This record gives sequence, structure tokens and C-alpha cells, in this order.
Amino acid sequence: MAGAYDDRDGKIWMDGQLVEWRDANVHILTHAMHYASSVFEGERCYNGKIFKSVEHSERLIKSGKLLDMEIPYTIEEIEKAKYDVLKANGWDDAYVRVIAYRGAGEDMGVASNKNPVRMAVAAWEWGAYYGDAKMKGAKLDIAKWKRPSPETIPTAAKAAGLYMICTMSKHAAEAKGCSDALFMDYRGYVAEATGANIFFVKDGEVHTPDPDAILNGITRQTVIEMLEAKGIKVNVRRIMPEELEGFEQCWLTGTAAEVTPVGQIGDYTFEVGTLTREIAEDYEKLVRA
Ligand SMILES: Cc1ncc(COP(=O)(O)O)c(C=O)c1O
Repeated sequence: MAGAYDDRDGKIWMDGQLVEWRDANVHILTHAMHYASSVFEGERCYNGKIFKSVEHSERLIKSGKLLDMEIPYTIEEIEKAKYDVLKANGWDDAYVRVIAYRGAGEDMGVASNKNPVRMAVAAWEWGAYYGDAKMKGAKLDIAKWKRPSPETIPTAAKAAGLYMICTMSKHAAEAKGCSDALFMDYRGYVAEATGANIFFVKDGEVHTPDPDAILNGITRQTVIEMLEAKGIKVNVRRIMPEELEGFEQCWLTGTAAEVTPVGQIGDYTFEVGTLTREIAEDYEKLVRA
């Protein structure tokens, strides 16, 4: 199945019902279209089991709360909706997208208390997020935009509004032949990529940014646990951009990215080393276990 995402065969779950893929539409006066009032999840199903499914549903509800948006479904209902979609489309291996958003209603200004909060779940077959970067190492640009302060926007939410600068940065990166862009945060520290967290290796230890102005990815947390179980020291700390020069290896983590080696960030280069390959393989085994 390929082609435009709105022109495919299959079923999508919307507000409690499975609807035909091409009928899964919203009105143009949907609040979220105008004011970015939506939160979402990206998940992967491996061999019929969504990796960390409940954690994703919990984060969705938490993201909603961070936007003062109460999602009118329980964890159990969200879990059922996801598996209903996978079953209806006959997929054991797929990417799952859950989105909750403020719909159309009596409010069309910034306030939206009179509008319903709606939810939809779609899934599709999706291979490697960065193409052949898994082997060679992805090339990253350095974004001109900065990840904002948690006092500017709820950075812990996986919310649509936070992705505006991600889309712009990824377009700029792709125009330079890069697969993605690395952001610094509002203070100038190394932050995250447009849809993935970042790790570095130096002298047998791992370094990754504090999750205080980035999305604390579920894959990130999993990989930290995997490294610690191997007895590898993980330094969760503020990382200055100048430090990029001294790091030997680098990889990205994310549900879509999984563990993707990085070969270059701007002018800095990294080797796709043993630890990077080991962690990528261990993660692959874990998600299919
Ligand atoms: C901005 C951003 N950072 C990090 C991640 C990684 O998060 P996770 O591992 O939970 O998919 C994502 C993907 O959801 C993301 O969009």
C-alpha cells in the first residue's frame, strides 16, 4: 500500500468507530487545524504487539493534560482502539498513530471549551525512518531554530505545536542532503533531532542530554535501561555544542527512528562503532521479544 496518505484502502478508528480510510476526515473549522490544539503518539507494532503500548497511551493522556485537554477515553479504550485498527487492516508489523484534538464546535476563537475533544487512530506499514542510514550513519544538519523553554510551551507534551519548527528544520536539512536536523535548546545546549533523541559515546561512556527541554522519549528511556543493564555508564547531563568534536560515536533513538547510527552532524563526524551497532541490534531483539 502506498501513495497519498488520504487515498488508501483500509480502516481508521475515529471517535469510537472504524471508518473507511478515505472517509476519515475532519471539518476545516476543526479547532486543532487553526490553533495546533492536538497531541499525538507514534508507536510501532512488531509481530502483533505494540512496543510499550500502555506507556504511549499514558503519555497521550498526559500530553492532553499538559494542554488542558482532557481526552475522553481511558487507557483501556485507547489500547483497544489501537489493536482494533491493526486487526481491521490485518497488520502485525505497522506504525500506529493516535491523535487527540479539539474538534469543530460552537467555539471558533482561541478558546475551545464548547468544542468536543476527538480522537483517531490510524496505522500503516512503515520501514526504516532514515532509509539506509541504519548501515552508514545518518547525516544531520544543525537546525537554526532552538527547542523552546518549558516556560514557553509544554515541552514534555507530544503536541503538534512543537513540530512547526521541526518541519521547517527537516526541510532545510533535506535541502542540504541531510536526513534530519539536530536542535540546540533555548539555552544553547544540545537537545534532540526533529523526531528523535540523541546519544553520544566517548571513552566507553555514554552521554545524552537532560530531558528538561526535550521529549523524554520512550525509546530513550528504554535504551538508557539497556545500557545500564550492560554496565555502561550513562551521563544524563547538559551537553555543549563544542563537545560534538570530542564524541566518537552517536546515535538517535525514537519509535520511528528505532536506534539509528549518526555519521555526521554539521562538520563533525562519528564512526558507526561497536557499541552503536550492539545497541541497535539489542533494541531490535527487545522490540520483537
Ligand atoms: C521531538 C521528538 N523527540 C523524541 C522522540 C522520541 O520519542 P519516542 O522514543 O517516545 O518515540 C520523538 C518521537 O516521538 C519526537 O518527536
